[in-house]
Amino acid sequence: MSLMSEIRGFPVPKKSVAIWWLGQNGYIFKTSGGALLSTDMYLTDSCARLGADAGLNLARRVPVLIRPEELDVDLYACTHNHMDHTDPETIRGLRNKDTAQFIGPHPSCEVYRAECVETSRIVPAWPACEMEFRDIHIRGAFALPTDDTDLNHMGYIFRFNHGPTVYMTGDTDYNELLASAAKYSPDLVITCINGGFNNLSHDEAAELVGKIKPKAAIPCHYDMFPDNSVDPRQFRASLKMRAPETKYQELEHGKPFVYSV
Ligand SMILES: [Fe+2]
Repeated sequence: MSLMSEIRGFPVPKKSVAIWWLGQNGYIFKTSGGALLSTDMYLTDSCARLGADAGLNLARRVPVLIRPEELDVDLYACTHNHMDHTDPETIRGLRNKDTAQFIGPHPSCEVYRAECVETSRIVPAWPACEMEFRDIHIRGAFALPTDDTDLNHMGYIFRFNHGPTVYMTGDTDYNELLASAAKYSPDLVITCINGGFNNLSHDEAAELVGKIKPKAAIPCHYDMFPDNSVDPRQFRASLKMRAPETKYQELEHGKPFVYSV
């Protein structure tokens, strides 16, 4: 059975969310009501060419677990317009017409438009915006751009079926405003830890988690590219020092992780 059909058929208990990691900042969330939300789907190898031009090895290491044409989600969200997050080639390959909304900051919306997503399905997002779709509440969160190739980074705070709340940092430089996500008492924080290209380092990510105090912290954005990877155990070690009450939770690509409140 394909991973997409597995996800479609996976039963999610009440007050829970099921999460699948597809690599980098790519996740699929499923609510107990059956709604599916994806973030930052990178389902091609389009960064490899970009990297080669810059003398970097950005060939994907994580296999493509769902091909773009197989992706079947209700909401397709992006955090910013870098190709490992808003990937034009992935968006070009999508075939499913049931995706109700394509969400993201304006530069990501421009890519949706350029890849022929109908305007009626494009929903701009920004830090502090709020929107709801079925049993998913979405709030935009602050993120600090990592360089001047995109100045519209954001994170998200998702609340699933009045239950679990997840704060996703997206790619971001460190700033104390990131800790404002604590106001929404997220149960889980999904954070970049790679340090490269001016993202949060494993230690900065742990410091942020220490201020937010979620139940568990999930590291991401360390796995995809040879020239942009770190060992997540460094984050685990920093977490022990800086956020001792928070559990370290590493996800395995393509395997469901169910969190219940
Ligand atoms: Fe990235």
